[in-house]
Amino acid sequence: MSDGATARGSATEREEARKTAEGLEHLSGFGNEHSSEAVPGALPVGRNSPQRAPLGLYAEQLSGSAFTEPRAENRRSWLYRIRPSAAHPSFTRTGNGALRSAPFTQTVPDPNRLRWNPLPDPDEGTDFLAGLWTLGGNGDVAQRSGMAVHLYHANASMRRVFSDADGELLIVPERGGLLLRTEFGMLHVEPGHVALIPRGVRFRVELLDETARGYVCENYGAAFRLPDLGPIGANGLANARDFRAPVAAYEDVEGPVEVVNKFCGNLWAATYDHSPLDVVAWHGNYVPYAYDLRRFNVMGTISYDHPDPSIFTVLTSPSDTPGLAGVDFVVFAPRWLVGEDTFRPPYFHRNVMSEYMGLIEGVYDAKTAGKGGFVPGGGSLHNMMSAHGPDRETFDRASAAELRPQKIDDGLAFMFETRWPVSLTPQAARAEHLQQGYDDVWRGLERHFRPLH
Ligand SMILES: [Fe+2]
Repeated sequence: MSDGATARGSATEREEARKTAEGLEHLSGFGNEHSSEAVPGALPVGRNSPQRAPLGLYAEQLSGSAFTEPRAENRRSWLYRIRPSAAHPSFTRTGNGALRSAPFTQTVPDPNRLRWNPLPDPDEGTDFLAGLWTLGGNGDVAQRSGMAVHLYHANASMRRVFSDADGELLIVPERGGLLLRTEFGMLHVEPGHVALIPRGVRFRVELLDETARGYVCENYGAAFRLPDLGPIGANGLANARDFRAPVAAYEDVEGPVEVVNKFCGNLWAATYDHSPLDVVAWHGNYVPYAYDLRRFNVMGTISYDHPDPSIFTVLTSPSDTPGLAGVDFVVFAPRWLVGEDTFRPPYFHRNVMSEYMGLIEGVYDAKTAGKGGFVPGGGSLHNMMSAHGPDRETFDRASAAELRPQKIDDGLAFMFETRWPVSLTPQAARAEHLQQGYDDVWRGLERHFRPLH
């Protein structure tokens, strides 16, 4: 419970939010049938929709999958709330800001390797929603397929509430902690953590530091899940127990609250006469969650060669073709490199999948650090079949390195890897922070070929 949708901009408000964030309890696991009540007795026992729900609450189901999808795929939750979600006035169109949606048809798809510096600082009073800036994506929101790559920059907490009917939002903070107040309760994430807000779930983002910056994968397709582990066995990669779901917490706020809904590519707003974050109890498996990427159990070679980066998959959104993801979320976490007679950084490659990479902190082992390079908050796009890999400096260094066991612990990079090429928005194609001359990092890769006679 809190004072609800009031302004949160001052240092005192941030301190309060941080205190709340750091004291949070959570439920543990991925895809579980969780249940939680903020007031004892708020959850009905033995049924979902009793004639009169406990404590005068309204019962409501939120379906994240079709009713009839197989049990293993089925995602839904039951919410017990002060007012039903249906009690709201009409939505009317509001400005989309720098947020764009698929289909992305305004630029010619670009086969070039591209890299951006971080977003410039936002204008004063920019909240998370206003600070969303779309780089590009693929698919079609109306077909529930594909994905979008967004970045965000913010310096104010949201006073309004947002939900996205077009897809789930995987939020990857790079700078600044966030307190996410959702219908299901609160989540706390810091840089190095990720949070997922399921399609349609209402939430508000409050800042725990003066500024916040990061990345968002908007997944229009099938909900992210943990990848199968195959011969790895029953444990490893992202372990289910390390995912955090919120415990129920509600706002009992009467008064005007702006609620923004993203629907088929546009933002729509309505002014409610109460906070829609009024869920007192809930149960189900369709829930927001958070995960600390440093908990990732990294697998890699203990003999030779560099495994494909699919070994670093945290979450995957499957398509209708087995093994072909709509989008994978992949992390390059701290790890040991011990391969013998092996070129240890990521190898040169061309990939049918398209790769957007971002950097949360430090450096990435295939690219030289520094200004004008691959920097935290920046990103690179290697679209379908574009040739890429280590830059010249990295190649020279790694080819000559003495192959002692080596700990890579000075960076945290990630990738959104998607089945279709990423088309850019005009703002990304023409951005001032788009680096010029990215191709130059592969210049000077000299020929070393010496045919034997
Ligand atoms: Fe790649």
